[in-house]
Amino acid sequence: MISEMLSRKFDQIIARYPLKRSAMVPLLLYAQDEIGQVSDEVIAEVARRVEVRPIEVVEVVSYYSMLHRQPVSKHQLQVCTGISCMLRGADEVFEHCAKKLGVGHKQTTPDGLFSLEQVECLGACCGAPAMQVNYDYYENLTLGEIDQLITELKKKEPRSNM
Ligand code: FES
Repeated sequence: MISEMLSRKFDQIIARYPLKRSAMVPLLLYAQDEIGQVSDEVIAEVARRVEVRPIEVVEVVSYYSMLHRQPVSKHQLQVCTGISCMLRGADEVFEHCAKKLGVGHKQTTPDGLFSLEQVECLGACCGAPAMQVNYDYYENLTLGEIDQLITELKKKEPRSNM
């Protein structure tokens, strides 16, 4: 059962689209931001509201790398390892993030603040090597900029002692 607040937000989002099913991804993203994952309940509710079968919602969730069935961290680092980024140092970027955070591919730090993942092309090839952190893009990354970014994200977390 989703919350009353989430239910109201779903109504608002669906009203923006001429076709209900067009609201599917926005609904899923909003729900994930609110409850931290795309749960079975969210899938069932979104399917009901946009009038598709639940399996169609599951297929959409499995297609998009920014949608997660498992609980997500607060800051999701998605390092592009597509061909353009690979040619411009993506492996080094990923290894640097992994070492800095102490986690590997599809892993989350013990405090739940950061997760790390290798993803396919983010559509930012001109800015390779690129990384996405939640909804923000970071392009032409250097290792120093990654250190700075992680430090800034940690500063936003008063309880973090990483
Ligand atoms: S290959 Fe990395 S953004 Fe396209």
